Amino acid sequence: MNPPELLPILRYPDPRLHTVAKTVAAVDDRIRALIPRMLATMYDANGIGLAATQVDIHVRLIVIDVSEARDQPLVLINPVIEWASEETRKGEEGCLSVPGIYDGVERSVAVRVRALDAEGVERSIEAQGMLAVCIQHEMDHLMGKVFVEYLSPLKRNRIKSKLVKAQREAERA
Ligand code: NI
Repeated sequence: MNPPELLPILRYPDPRLHTVAKTVAAVDDRIRALIPRMLATMYDANGIGLAATQVDIHVRLIVIDVSEARDQPLVLINPVIEWASEETRKGEEGCLSVPGIYDGVERSVAVRVRALDAEGVERSIEAQGMLAVCIQHEMDHLMGKVFVEYLSPLKRNRIKSKLVKAQREAERA
């Protein structure tokens, strides 16, 4: 069998990153075909999470793997935060759609999320630490929100200019 075909990742400030994703009506062949491609794209880019929004497919589907060995894929379809800790912490985040940029974002330290898995089975997952942060970050993508939107307008504009410039240079090369 051939390895799954990689998907192009949208780069900030691409306006398509601000699309609000639709609920997955059924875990059908289309979704089942998309999951391995999203996982392969995430692993190829050395990411710990990828939302369908980032590959310009606007359905509520995210893939995550925060394991050291990169062998514990987690698929969340139609994720809903059931509970989020009041305790928050500011931690450094990055994003495959915002290459080379890392900055602090305040997030709940623990969450409980309900979602369908790759087989369409509903599960409730309790997460803390990096996994909790990653779930919140990826769920923001499904709402059309990129982490740089938590930063000050000044910082955000600097990042925007930097990425636009880098993209122009890449196109010229
Ligand atoms: Ni991201």
